[in-house]
Amino acid sequence: ESNFLYEIMGKADSCPAPTKPNLNWHLINHSKADHDLRHLIVDLSRACKYISYAIQTTEAGLAGTKNEFGEDQLALDVLADNLIREFLCESGLVCCYISEEQPDIVELDPEGQYSVVFDPLDGSSLVDANFAIGSIFGIYKDGNVIGATPREQVAAMYVLYGPRTLLVVSLGNGKGVHEFILNDVGEFVLLRDHLGIGDDAKNYSPGNLRAITTNPGYKKAIDSWQEEEKTLRYSGCMVADIHHILSKGQGVFSNIGGGEGSKYPDGKLRHVFECGPFAFLAEEAGGAASDGTMAILDKEITSVDQRTQIIIGSKNDVESVASLVS
Ligand code: AHG
Ligand code: MN
Ligand code: MN
Repeated sequence: ESNFLYEIMGKADSCPAPTKPNLNWHLINHSKADHDLRHLIVDLSRACKYISYAIQTTEAGLAGTKNEFGEDQLALDVLADNLIREFLCESGLVCCYISEEQPDIVELDPEGQYSVVFDPLDGSSLVDANFAIGSIFGIYKDGNVIGATPREQVAAMYVLYGPRTLLVVSLGNGKGVHEFILNDVGEFVLLRDHLGIGDDAKNYSPGNLRAITTNPGYKKAIDSWQEEEKTLRYSGCMVADIHHILSKGQGVFSNIGGGEGSKYPDGKLRHVFECGPFAFLAEEAGGAASDGTMAILDKEITSVDQRTQIIIGSKNDVESVASLVS
């Protein structure tokens, strides 16, 4: 490219840093993102503006279809999935993607250098209750996500549609985790630079609690959190619950399996598009993410619908719970 933006941004005298850096500016000047990766992230953020608008204006209702996991799809799930696909097609940068709403890998542009994994709408069953919901994205270089590990992601991002619409993104490699807010003219502007996660959690966010009837280790973990008089913060939307941790700078979120014969033997959450991106963000913020045995970032992706246990957030609490549930 002509590097027009790089040139003008580089001229400190005529172009001082803006008072409110936007996502594009931040990707150029702070994260030093590759041209294509920057475009891809900005294109995903554009899709999310439409999703945010759709959430505010669409009547929540069942679409009458079921996704491959046999769950009812809300109209907004489908809409969000379609919107993201449109923007990925437009970008021309993506060879394939994995979406919660698609049964298989979807091939796009054979020339595209990136793969994107996403949960278009996380917590979608909460829409009618007007709870916060979100979109989750992981970006990989090239097309081989199956067989890769989430550590190979080159970026991870989520958008939280709450009372405010927030975007949190990291390009890894020590470049930090950054939070942007959608303003009234439709621009994501920097809200907080460098979100961090401290080593000890005061808040806990225990998912799939039904598993404690068959998983004594998980019961012990919950008991210890209660004995330590931690504060419960659980909304049922992983994006909101983990954003709470990044926002407060501490906390621990878990979704643990109930073992064979239980509703979710390996926990409810999907490795590739739910746990992988959050593990990338948590480690980059100084926290940890484990499946009880190993780091989520090092766990191989074997299929699009693979589920995994996850304990994520403040390091010390992730470690102590992992030792109980593994
Ligand atoms: P989705 O709406 O994409 O299906 O995901 C919802 C997930 C996750 O966000 C949350 O942590 C978990 O489901 C909640 O499960 P419970 O309803 O069993 O608590
Ligand atoms: Mn989800
Ligand atoms: Mn979803």
